[in-house]
Amino acid sequence: RADNKVTIYFVNRDGETISAKGSPGDTLLDVVINQDIDIDGYGACEGTLACSTCHLIFDEDVYNKLGPVTDEEMDMLDLAYGLTDTSRLGCQICLTKSLDGITARVPESVSDIRQSGEGSS
Ligand code: FES
Repeated sequence: RADNKVTIYFVNRDGETISAKGSPGDTLLDVVINQDIDIDGYGACEGTLACSTCHLIFDEDVYNKLGPVTDEEMDMLDLAYGLTDTSRLGCQICLTKSLDGITARVPESVSDIRQSGEGSS
């Protein structure tokens, strides 16, 4: 019974965590679209690297597993709101089994968290 699905937890701007499943090879943008996840304005250019609305922020250990960033993605990321050292564009990240269970934060909530210094949960 090969459950080939990869589970991703999206933390939306309001702090709500949404769990979603995708298949290896899907991008995170595909997951958001296929599962109909309500992230305001997400993926405006439909994965053509012409916007930065698919910006997501990861924990560092996760970020290191995501694979290389292309120059094109870097250029677009530079324009993203609330850019961090562990930011990526969701439309450029393909799921693999090793990403099962990762958390992807939608930026605005992260900048809020930082400002309020929240460290407990
Ligand atoms: Fe536009 Fe990713 S959806 S750059």
